[in-house]
Amino acid sequence: MPTDEITAAAAGTWTLGDHTVNRMGFGSMRITADPDPDRAVAVLRRAVELGVNHIDTAAFYVSPGGTLGVGTGPARYATELIRAALAPYPEDLLIATKVGPGYDPGDGFTEALTAAQLRAQVEENLRRLGRDHLDLVNLRMYDRPSPVPLAERFGALADLRAAGLIRHLGLSNARPEHLDEVRDIAPVVCVQNSYGVDAYREDDGFVRLCGERAIAYVPFFALAGTRREAGAPAEENPAVASVARAHGVTTHQVRLAWTLHQGPHVLAIPGTGNPEHLVANVAAGGLRLTPEDLAQLG
Ligand SMILES: NC(=O)c1ccc[n+]([C@@H]2O[C@H](COP(=O)([O-])OP(=O)(O)OC[C@H]3O[C@@H](n4cnc5c(N)ncnc54)[C@H](OP(=O)(O)O)[C@@H]3O)[C@@H](O)[C@H]2O)c1
Repeated sequence: MPTDEITAAAAGTWTLGDHTVNRMGFGSMRITADPDPDRAVAVLRRAVELGVNHIDTAAFYVSPGGTLGVGTGPARYATELIRAALAPYPEDLLIATKVGPGYDPGDGFTEALTAAQLRAQVEENLRRLGRDHLDLVNLRMYDRPSPVPLAERFGALADLRAAGLIRHLGLSNARPEHLDEVRDIAPVVCVQNSYGVDAYREDDGFVRLCGERAIAYVPFFALAGTRREAGAPAEENPAVASVARAHGVTTHQVRLAWTLHQGPHVLAIPGTGNPEHLVANVAAGGLRLTPEDLAQLG
């Protein structure tokens, strides 16, 4: 089948909270890097045409500056590009966002710690996306200890969930013990951590644990790996290159297919601002790796 006829449905589905989504989703961080907002809008619309119904974003995905630290000209927010491209939103679309970190074009990075600060970030997401509720909010943690206990910050989000501003909650940059810390506060429907075939494999056990608890595991940097915001490297992994040759596909497609083979609860959110990369990434959801491929990839 030609690549551009393979839709996100080829990856199968997972139910995030009350929302069934295709396991091949889209990460919107990269679309802010493009100085041409029309191209970003076109990529988002094409993603939805291709069946993507899980889009990851954050109000701090903004250029110039922001997490990518690139760009010039007027501020381009991923959340506002999503609104421009997709509102009124399709019924089946789940938009996941994250709070904790914030970015102000004047002041740089901030962190929301108190209930009032977290609420302000939720409201910023609502305003920029043009919605009256958020489908899924991940509390994004840092590696350093926080001055405010997790239970307090998660509890503040649970209050916003009870008030109807948020439908579902998740954790990002999380460790297994965090699930236990918040267990009695509100359900966690997903964990969003950095993870890939040759990066952050210390999370292997956490991926399995999430599966056992029916929590979605949503890896970011599945392509970029340890280069993180610097983006996808030239292929350096001989096993990935060999499997790609055997299937006649790209190494990026093998990396995404490997992600999806880690369990039915693992969802992909590759990020791209390039329409051709988008089509190739969605098509990777239809790539079936053999047990021999998986053994070779490790
Ligand atoms: N929770 C968190 O803390 C957190 C942190 C970072 C990101 N995220 C989320 O996770 C998503 C994924 O992360 P990411 O976008 O940084 O990294 P990624 O998906 O691992 O990789 C993106 C990089 O790969 C390139 N790329 C994508 N598809 C490609 C293809 N088919 N062929 C060649 N190159 C390709 C992109 O460049 P091009 O644009 O040129 O295609 C970009 O350099 C983000 O968009 C964001 O929504 C979450």
